Amino acid sequence: MSHKSGPLHGEVTVPGDKSVSHRALMFGAIAEGVTHIRGFLEGEDTLATASILGKLGVRFETPSPGERIVHGVGLHGLRGSPDALDCGNAGTGMRLLAGLLAGQAFDSTLVGDESLSRRPMRRVTDPLAQMGASIDTNDGKPPLRIHGGARLHGVTYRPPVASAQIKSALLLAGLYAEGFTEVVEPHPTRDYTESMLKAFGWPIDYSPGRARLEGGHVLHAANVDVPADFSSAAFFIVAACIVPGSSLRLNGVGLNPRRTGLLSALRLMGADIAVENTRTSGGETIADLVVTHAPLHGVSLPEEIVPDMIDEFPALFVAAAVADGTTTIRGAAELRVKESDRIASMANGLKACGASVDELPDGAVIRGGGLRSGSIDSHGDHRIAMSFAVAGLVAEGPIAIGDCANVATSFPGFMELANGVGFRLEPAN
Ligand code: S3P
Repeated sequence: MSHKSGPLHGEVTVPGDKSVSHRALMFGAIAEGVTHIRGFLEGEDTLATASILGKLGVRFETPSPGERIVHGVGLHGLRGSPDALDCGNAGTGMRLLAGLLAGQAFDSTLVGDESLSRRPMRRVTDPLAQMGASIDTNDGKPPLRIHGGARLHGVTYRPPVASAQIKSALLLAGLYAEGFTEVVEPHPTRDYTESMLKAFGWPIDYSPGRARLEGGHVLHAANVDVPADFSSAAFFIVAACIVPGSSLRLNGVGLNPRRTGLLSALRLMGADIAVENTRTSGGETIADLVVTHAPLHGVSLPEEIVPDMIDEFPALFVAAAVADGTTTIRGAAELRVKESDRIASMANGLKACGASVDELPDGAVIRGGGLRSGSIDSHGDHRIAMSFAVAGLVAEGPIAIGDCANVATSFPGFMELANGVGFRLEPAN
């Protein structure tokens, strides 16, 4: 349950980046030597990936929370597991592991929770099959049964959708393939796989929207500093924008340019967001964000920024619902295949709180004007639950948020951290 709050004040350091944490585990696992990860996300999604790699013979140490020491087994050192490998709720975990496991000598089965079991996997299994992989699906959905012993060869692949998960799955398979694997994207996506491969010493040629590597090299263990997750910071950014009198500082947030479309969108709407202490950590730009309340107005969102804020739409829907005027979102059909159908989840939830929202196949028209009390269903989707926690700060009455246990997939400790800066969240009875 989220209640109307007074101004939000203080400093927040959100947990480590989910995308970087998954990749650091995987590359550390198949590197030669010992990888030290700092700032690791102790979320259910990344813990599921660690547990799978453990079943495949990789040893981890946890000197302190947020720290992992990965004892790499080398490119060909993983060993098969008779157990189904459970990715939980994590699309990133499953799609990247599909690429990694496609080139192994042993068979594997990847399974997921109810939400993940509904998500499309042909986007990775089809191009992996072009590389020579043999993967059975349940009509394009999990479980994925990956047959070992396939001889992979490189391809040039042009994914029909902008997706870092597709790109990364192919690059991971490409490590085991003969010849060159190249991915040419319709719009550049987050490049953590490319930058981490480079940091681990694998030759890779990449520029925004294009990546190319050759199989058969060696990964050398490296240390990884994980930045604070922009997508987790997003809830606090929107909260400080919309609650009158607020000013919040968010420390050390990862500002990979393929992640920060929300800043552009909110600034177009009139937000006051300052970027301070810009610095580099682990090859990534990080900075402190100081967000001060400012009245927001509706916009027609430029479609070209959609891929750069693909995980931030639930939070943006809330900003749009309390802005002055109408916000139009187009070109965002990918939202329908996330942890839930995020266009439907947000439109229905906002309507249950009195907002006027029209769903479009690839977006929505949201007429701003404020929110009332309501009861919404998160559909087990962490980002829907946290977005309605933000909505409750400015709604006339409390918002009851159902099916929200999955917040822990990406943001353990969200409620405590949020209440520490002025949210008024309480667990359901
Ligand atoms: C991710 C890529 C994005 C994003 C997801 C994490 C990644 O998915 O939504 O949360 O780590 O590569 P798509 O590749 O499906 O766009």
